[in-house]
Amino acid sequence: MAHVLNFLGFALIPVLAWLVVRYGKTVHKNETRFYWIFGIVFTFIAFLALVVLIQSDVATFKTDAPIAYALLFQGHIPFAFFVLVMFAGAFKHKSKAKATLMGVRRELAIIGFFSLLPHVVLLIWLALSNLNPTGTVAFLLMIPLFITSFRSIRKKMKPVNWRKLHKLAYAVYAIIFLHLASITIVFNIMNNQEDMLAFVLGFVRFALYLIVFAVYTWMRLKNRRPRLKKPPLNQPA
Ligand code: HEM
Repeated sequence: MAHVLNFLGFALIPVLAWLVVRYGKTVHKNETRFYWIFGIVFTFIAFLALVVLIQSDVATFKTDAPIAYALLFQGHIPFAFFVLVMFAGAFKHKSKAKATLMGVRRELAIIGFFSLLPHVVLLIWLALSNLNPTGTVAFLLMIPLFITSFRSIRKKMKPVNWRKLHKLAYAVYAIIFLHLASITIVFNIMNNQEDMLAFVLGFVRFALYLIVFAVYTWMRLKNRRPRLKKPPLNQPA
């Protein structure tokens, strides 16, 4: 069971994509309400993570409540959110998929960030004590992106500065990939050698993460918007 749950993130991508197609417009129209709802829900779950840490430890919790752990704390929900945020920028310009995802990209990024909080609170100490700062670096870089994603804050910034700052998202995507690779390769080699199935499935997950990020990179490069041609120097702009 635990082995299957480790793949939850990949299963959540089509589910979330379906929700976007079905309810994206409603979410967009009521974005503030959704931020409050998801903000409160995930902050509460993050608080529960603190209770888990005070009363027990991650390993015991993972064995005692594998479904709750995988669903709410293992990082699969934020992964699915950020995959859609990434691909929103990678589909072909003017395609239906791009228009649908771009219509709720801000909402996906903000709610995705909230959904990360339980994962961060439960696992930050484990990750740092294992000398793996990848997730923490990604999370810290996400903070300015998260804050400036809110429409009210974005409006206060010059568009050119906002765009420059949000180029940081590419670094975040790369570090998230490193995070997933480090867990499915390094942590996997360190911890799963006794359990052959878990060991092999760790590499299978790595291969799937690699495919997701490779396809994203390929599509992003292929569908780059052509740069506007600069007029020759001797002609007025
Ligand atoms: C402070 C930030 C973060 C910390 C401390 C952290 C820590 C960890 C740790 C310790 C694990 C291993 C858990 C396990 O094997 O059960 C893990 C797994 C995972 N993390 Fe993070 N993480 C952080 C940020 C992120 C971010 C930004 C994402 C992506 C949106 C993410 C997505 C995932 C996923 C999907 C897994 C499961 C990987 C797999 O086993 O296939 N994490 N994280």
